[in-house]
Amino acid sequence: MLEKYLHFESEFYSAAKALIYALEIKDPYTSGHSYRVYKIAKELGSMFELSDADRFALEGGALLHDIGKIGIRDDVLFKPASLSADEFKVMKSHVILGANIVSQVDCLKPCLEPVLFHHERIDGKGYPHGIAGSEIPFIAKICTVADSYDAMTTNRVYMPARTPEDGMEEVLRHSGTQFEPVVVEAFAEWWHKKYRDNDSIIQSQLTQYPTIEEHKESKAKFLGR
Ligand SMILES: [Fe+2]
Repeated sequence: MLEKYLHFESEFYSAAKALIYALEIKDPYTSGHSYRVYKIAKELGSMFELSDADRFALEGGALLHDIGKIGIRDDVLFKPASLSADEFKVMKSHVILGANIVSQVDCLKPCLEPVLFHHERIDGKGYPHGIAGSEIPFIAKICTVADSYDAMTTNRVYMPARTPEDGMEEVLRHSGTQFEPVVVEAFAEWWHKKYRDNDSIIQSQLTQYPTIEEHKESKAKFLGR
């Protein structure tokens, strides 16, 4: 049985790593973003009573959340200014493209929800579907907070990085509108206790990806069902 788990683990992370590598070749400006979002989402997920299946979906989905940007044309993805309405429509399609990509591969399918729903908002003003509140899968809400915080606190072509303190305050400010309050509470607790004095996550580089060993235990439980 253990060999089966290791095989699946290996298959999942080999496929995920190859896809993220391809994304970061296309978009080196956001190098490391996928891994940092994975790390933050994993930390936040550990603060909730998630099933093993949800934990797997959250961590894998966080790693692959922006994979659909592979399909976004360069003049939109790298525009160093605000997007026009039409350009924003193109950019928004990355969640559908990403969902289509992970749906093609059996070992990636469990990670669909964070990929598809990480730009939904609990007030219903997000995309792609504009779903609200409890309609949004909880693991996607965790991914949303992790993604937004990392995006705000690292340099982008359209905006310089904010300080971690500013990023934290921005997350708090949008609790109850963009973000799920209980996730924001967990994020604030994690940030104050573990992140603030240890910014190793923000230093993460392309070569740092989860090892099979790192997730063997939780994935083994999930895959053994
Ligand atoms: Fe995204």
